[in-house]
Amino acid sequence: MAVGEFLTRLFGLEGQTAVVIGGAGELGFALCSGLSQAGAHVVIADVNLQACQKRVRQIEEAGGRASPAEVDITSRASLESLLAEALKVSGRVEMLVNSAGINAGSPFLDVDPDFWDKIFAVNLKGMMEACQVFIAHMKEAGGGSILNIGSVNSHLPLSRVFAYAASKAGVVNLTKNIAQEFAASGIRCNAICPGFFPAEQNRKLLDAERVENIMRGTPMHRYGEPHELVGAALLLLSPQAGSYITGADYYVDGGFTCSWF
Ligand SMILES: NC(=O)c1ccc[n+]([C@@H]2O[C@H](COP(=O)([O-])OP(=O)(O)OC[C@H]3O[C@@H](n4cnc5c(N)ncnc54)[C@H](O)[C@@H]3O)[C@@H](O)[C@H]2O)c1
Repeated sequence: MAVGEFLTRLFGLEGQTAVVIGGAGELGFALCSGLSQAGAHVVIADVNLQACQKRVRQIEEAGGRASPAEVDITSRASLESLLAEALKVSGRVEMLVNSAGINAGSPFLDVDPDFWDKIFAVNLKGMMEACQVFIAHMKEAGGGSILNIGSVNSHLPLSRVFAYAASKAGVVNLTKNIAQEFAASGIRCNAICPGFFPAEQNRKLLDAERVENIMRGTPMHRYGEPHELVGAALLLLSPQAGSYITGADYYVDGGFTCSWF
């Protein structure tokens, strides 16, 4: 078998539909691009519709297929509409990626309980509801694959991001719990836990002291590039390459979670 054919059989997503919530963001869009290049039609869903439309044009210019959809992951009705919209593509959604996320930092005694709720509403409760809505469809359709975006905070609580870190610990726990409940229904659920990839939601937190600590704690001594998440995402989402992988929390972090200095 030729190399191209072998890789296509393992990772090809031709004819499949992927919904990426938070798809207009920096990491979410890198995942949209990768899924599209592997052949999937990608529904780029985000609270920011204009950004989705811009991202769709980028995918189309690169020869891929995508459509924009406005969604607020904190609203059940909005998630139900997103599923209905995505089903218009081919009547089936094989993949869901949960990449919406927000962050804010402060010392513990200054943590605003209302903001804590807001972070949990997007990062964890919203993810849980998105999983409920799409799993109901996937179960009826005979299977599917979900990829949730955690963080190195899922494993290690980083200082000054209490709500974010706790929500991301919840993401891995939720992922594993969903994996065990729906394995028999042909639904796999995995998480990617990225290290440090400067983006809109975390750039303001990266002061000089934090950057120095991050670089010291990352054995590769550099930030990640969004496209470096794509290989792991295709492995976990692909029904061929990832067929026996569920409940995994896969760290793409330049070695951050294995270092101790
Ligand atoms: N960038 C990093 O270093 C890093 C590291 C670890 C984990 N993560 C996680 O990766 C994911 C993507 O983050 P990013 O770095 O690309 O940030 P980003 O800010 O570029 O993207 C986040 C996206 O989520 C969208 N969003 C926010 N609230 C929403 C809502 N209520 N409904 C729907 N969409 C909403 C935003 O509009 C944005 O497009 C997040 O879950 C984040 O926590 C990022």
